[in-house]
Amino acid sequence: MTDPVAESLLEYRKHFPALEECCHFISHSLGCVPAQAKEDLLEFFEIWRTKSITAWSDWLPEVDRAAERIEKIISATRGTVIMHQNVSTVMSVLASCFEYKPERNKIVYEALQFPTVSYVWQAEQRRGAECVLVPSADGITIDTDAMCAAIDEKTLAVPISHVVFSSAYIQDIKKICDRAKQVGAHVILDCYQSIGVVPLDVIDLGVSFACGGSVKYLCGGPGAAWLYVRKDLIEQFSPRVTGWFGNESPFAFTMPGQTYTDTIWRYMGGTPAIAGLYQSRAGQKIVGEIGVRKIRDKSLVMTQKCIDWIDELGLKLNTPRKAEIRGGSIVFDFVGSADVCRELNRRKFFCDHRPGVGIRIAPHFYTKPEEVDALFGELKKIRSGGGR
Ligand SMILES: Cc1ncc(COP(=O)(O)O)c(C=O)c1O
Repeated sequence: MTDPVAESLLEYRKHFPALEECCHFISHSLGCVPAQAKEDLLEFFEIWRTKSITAWSDWLPEVDRAAERIEKIISATRGTVIMHQNVSTVMSVLASCFEYKPERNKIVYEALQFPTVSYVWQAEQRRGAECVLVPSADGITIDTDAMCAAIDEKTLAVPISHVVFSSAYIQDIKKICDRAKQVGAHVILDCYQSIGVVPLDVIDLGVSFACGGSVKYLCGGPGAAWLYVRKDLIEQFSPRVTGWFGNESPFAFTMPGQTYTDTIWRYMGGTPAIAGLYQSRAGQKIVGEIGVRKIRDKSLVMTQKCIDWIDELGLKLNTPRKAEIRGGSIVFDFVGSADVCRELNRRKFFCDHRPGVGIRIAPHFYTKPEEVDALFGELKKIRSGGGR
């Protein structure tokens, strides 16, 4: 590799010994585990073992510590992020913030949305919402003008992906937010496929809400999803999906109704899942330390290398070629791609397959350029019937 910045990021491989036993191209789905995650989980366990009920004085502050790490990565101000278990729960909390009136009941999002998000909003139709899905003409991109045209004075919320999971297309969020603002709608941005690989500035983008998790490019494993709420909106909503940690005084055990706190904890439900926060700590710290700008610069070089291979092998690219609208993963297809993906995984070239679009791969800051060559070399071998 000629790029000195990309080369310097390989220094971080020392934190990921699991990389020495595989070719890891699955960070868009499950980031590699940092060695420190084991120590951090052990710390969680030891606090539990030695401190019993008093463990909570160590455990609860971990929620705000994790939130602070996320705030730095997404350029949010302090006190605007709260941790949850997964994006589906976050979306349910947000959906429960809205009331649907005939004059404003539209929920607009792309037909290429990640299904779990769609499931939450489709269920809102039982409460009076009307979901409008903006189709994709090519199965890869979504026309920004079509998205903006679908957002009108009847639109309440626009829960969209920053980067489309099945193609890595980056949506023009600023333009969509400008349109939403014109008509008084709220953009809810699912950043799961961008956090940790595409620089994010939620304030500059102008979103009302954003969310994501730590499983993928943050290398944090499951259980540490996050919700950002624009500062001035925090007190404007009172989620029906709630719990005692959203109360102004949870340990006063007041009955019978909720009195919401005026902080971001207002969007919290029941007892937070603490182990996931310990587990996600190391990955979030490493990404924060490197800085997503550098990760993005390397990612673009590496994904272009993947595209060159795909072109050379005559495979169908299902990701945008243009760097500025291409996220961190590359999707490509050919007859028999699902079987080849299975075999690649068996040979420890970790990747995944999505129906209709093909194999998804993602290099990350820890990927060596020669691993890209090795992956496509192996794929060539498998396609030509070569064993191992
Ligand atoms: C864009 C996007 N949103 C959401 C999810 C997952 O949601 P949850 O955290 O509810 O499992 C994924 C992938 O797992 C995703 O790619």
